[in-house]
Amino acid sequence: MLVNGKEMKSLWREGDTIKMIDQRYLPERLEIFTARDEMDIAMAIKDMVVRGAPAIGSAAAYGVAIADNAIKAAEIIRKTRPTAHDLFHAVDFILDAVEHGEDAIKAADEYAGSIVDACRRIGEHGKKLIGRGYRILTHCNAGALATIDYGTALSPIRMAKDKGIFVWVDETRPRLQGLLTAWELENEGIEHAVIADNAAGYFMYRDEVDMVIVGADRIASNYDFANKIGTYEKAVVAKENDIPFYVAAPLSTFDNAIMDGGKIKIEERSEEEVTSIYRYKPEKVRNPAFDITPSKYVTGIITENGIIKVNE
Ligand code: MRU
Repeated sequence: MLVNGKEMKSLWREGDTIKMIDQRYLPERLEIFTARDEMDIAMAIKDMVVRGAPAIGSAAAYGVAIADNAIKAAEIIRKTRPTAHDLFHAVDFILDAVEHGEDAIKAADEYAGSIVDACRRIGEHGKKLIGRGYRILTHCNAGALATIDYGTALSPIRMAKDKGIFVWVDETRPRLQGLLTAWELENEGIEHAVIADNAAGYFMYRDEVDMVIVGADRIASNYDFANKIGTYEKAVVAKENDIPFYVAAPLSTFDNAIMDGGKIKIEERSEEEVTSIYRYKPEKVRNPAFDITPSKYVTGIITENGIIKVNE
C-alpha cells in the first residue's frame, strides 16, 4: 500500500520482533508497534493495534512462532478475539508446522506471504466486476491495514483505480474503521466520501451506489458470513434496491466446520467503545462487534481462486 507516496506493509517481521502499524492512532498519526513475544501479540490483537481478519491471523501466526512454548502461546492467542476465523486457522497452521519439525518462523513468514498473495489475486479477480465510473460502497476497513497489503474489499477497488471510480465509506461506529479506509483511499488518490453508517440506505435509494463490496471475518459453509456490525443492514438495503452485494475474502476466512451463520460466535466489546463520545452514561449499553449476513443477500464471494456465484 502507498503511505505518503511510499510502498509499505501494515505488518512485517524484523529479526525476532514483529512490527505493525498501530491502528489505534491512525489516521491522526503513523506509529509503529513492536511485539517482542506472544504476550505483546495477544495484547495487540485484543486491543486492536492490529485489526481485520487476515492481519489478525498473520499476527497470531507470528505470535505462536516467536514463543518459547508454541502450545501455551496458541492457547493465549486463541482467547484474544473469537470471531475472525483467520486467527484460528493461522494458529493451527503454525502448530502443525511445529509438530512436523519445521522452522516456525519460516512457517509464519510463509503464512503472511500467502495472505498478501491471496489478497493480490482477490484484487485481480474482483476488478473485473467493477465498471467504469462505478460508485462502490464499503463498510469497515477491508484494506491493506487489515490484510498486510492490498486488502480484501479494497484490493479490487485499488486495482480498478484507473476506471474513474468513487467509494462511499461507511464511518463504522463505534471504532471508526471507516476512517482507516478513507486514509488508505486518500493515500492511493481514489475519490471517496465518508458517510455516517445510517446514511448508506439514503444513497442506495437515490441510485448513487452501483455495487457494495465488504470483507468478512468468518464465512460458514452455506455462505452466511460474519463481518463488522452494520454489514447485515447494508446487505438487506442493497437487495431491496437491486444493487450487487459482494464479499471479498481469502480462503483462510472460510470455516467449513460451521453449517450456517447462527453458529458463529460474535464478540461483544466494552460499553466504553460506544459511550466514549457521550456526555452522560446510559444505564445499559450493548456492543456486538460483528453481525451475520445470511447468504441470500450475497451476490458473490471474491476469493483468490475466483468468484463464487452465490445468488445471480
Ligand atoms: O474489529 P475489526 O476491526 O478487526 O473488524 C474488521 C472487519 O470486520 C473487517 O471488515 C474484516 O476483518 C474483513 S476485511 C479484512
